Amino acid sequence: MNNWAKLQKLADAGLPTLSEIFAGDANRATRMSFQVGGMYADFSKQRITPDVMQALFALAEDKNVVGKRADLFAGKPLNFTEKRAVLHPALRGSSTDKSIQKLVKDMRVRTRKFAEDICAQGQYQAVVHIGIGGSDLGPRLLADGLRANGSPALDLRFVNNVDGASINDALVGLNPRTTLVVIVSKSFGTLETRMNSEAARDWLGQFAGDNMIAVTANKDGAVNFGVDPAQIFEFWDWVGGRFSLWSAVGLSLQLAYGPDMFDDLLAGAASMDGHFQAAPLEKNLPTMLALTDIWNTNFLGYKTRCVVPYARRLRKLPSFLQQLEMESNGKSVATDGGASVDTSPVIWGGEGANAQHAFFQQLHQGTISAPVDFIAVLTDAENRPAHHRALLANCFAQSEALMCGKSETVVRAELKAKGMSTPDIDALAPHKTFPGNRPSTTIALNRLDAHTLGALIALYEHKVFVQSIIWDINAFDQWGVELGKELAGTILGELENGTDNQHDSSTSALIALARNHTPS
Ligand code: F6P
Repeated sequence: MNNWAKLQKLADAGLPTLSEIFAGDANRATRMSFQVGGMYADFSKQRITPDVMQALFALAEDKNVVGKRADLFAGKPLNFTEKRAVLHPALRGSSTDKSIQKLVKDMRVRTRKFAEDICAQGQYQAVVHIGIGGSDLGPRLLADGLRANGSPALDLRFVNNVDGASINDALVGLNPRTTLVVIVSKSFGTLETRMNSEAARDWLGQFAGDNMIAVTANKDGAVNFGVDPAQIFEFWDWVGGRFSLWSAVGLSLQLAYGPDMFDDLLAGAASMDGHFQAAPLEKNLPTMLALTDIWNTNFLGYKTRCVVPYARRLRKLPSFLQQLEMESNGKSVATDGGASVDTSPVIWGGEGANAQHAFFQQLHQGTISAPVDFIAVLTDAENRPAHHRALLANCFAQSEALMCGKSETVVRAELKAKGMSTPDIDALAPHKTFPGNRPSTTIALNRLDAHTLGALIALYEHKVFVQSIIWDINAFDQWGVELGKELAGTILGELENGTDNQHDSSTSALIALARNHTPS
């Protein structure tokens, strides 16, 4: 029997509950927790028995995770539908290819110098970063995350959506003379970024020549747009958009927080690269994260996963991971062109503790629940120790509550002790009962700084890669985003020019509705 079938059999046979598993294994938390760099990861609250764990590791071996991992770092063309290597680890120094090393080093030197010069000149007060998807989500997450160590030197603002509110809000109160606009687009052809860049160029007016820079893999596109070639920072087709924040895409962060911080970020990611490459599968954090998610998705039937950072400055992590995981592994075609097994769960989440007062009700008692990734930070960066203890207490309490639940017997005893009558207890007890046995992983960072943030993001990048190997899909293309772009282009023409194309009756009616609408 192969390991996939073996895992299915173990799931079908039924598992002991998490509370039972813990009761029978005094060392479970120790055995299933890992300390890597500045990070502690506890997988013990996953519904995984030793048999399941063994079969998951055997599955990873069968699928040649070790060999594919070597291929990734060696720059093999793993993105086979686009015939491209996948070398984002090279951006943090994790490549042995001398020519790639040189490209990366030269760009690193150039962006550092640019950031230092800007800082020394003191001409700018604000940076407006324009980009979307991978050209936005990583820098935006980090712009918040890095605030834990101090305020940015420049007012860093982001523009992503084609909704005019995005650029309008970003420009409020800024002076074109003292604002540097950073256009980030790998393709330099993305509609949203294009329109926002045009608006920013108009707004800059006479300052557009000096105060507009571009980060792109399409230098010609940026030149044609009017960016001075000396102000273009390139990256390469072997860097996927959602893996690109380590490249010049992170330039706005260097401008706001300084190049040393960026080096720390890269070093943190490089330390995770080193761990991922060297650690045996059983002690390998990205592999553990991947395997537990596969167990939940493919064998326990969970179709979503919830990400809850108990850190305000990481509140954009769920959005970042939505792109990283769902754009990478939201696929249904296997490498041979046939149908794949179930792939990425839907990723969603929110900021803890706020989320407790919103959707946690359903996680605890709903008919449809989800495994949770809890992210905690051990060091208080805000000099509010009481707040910080309360934040951590809430985080740890949630995973405990999800796992242990509260039996009806306990609920009844509590209500009785409060003097409630038996009929009232009968009516209320079922509503106050928690089923428990709901899985979670907790990742605790020692502190929130550039190094641990780099390691955390690289952890999830490699987790996504391991899953793609086991699911036998290409994690590095994104053909699924193209059809909507094409159709939007057609409809935009119809809205602008009043031309008509063939649509279904619903879409035609919506187009007519927008065309015939008169502002009220
Ligand atoms: O639409 C999806 C996507 O292609 C992402 O993969 C990418 O990160 C984003 O658009 C932005 O693309 P670009 O950097 O080329 O503007």
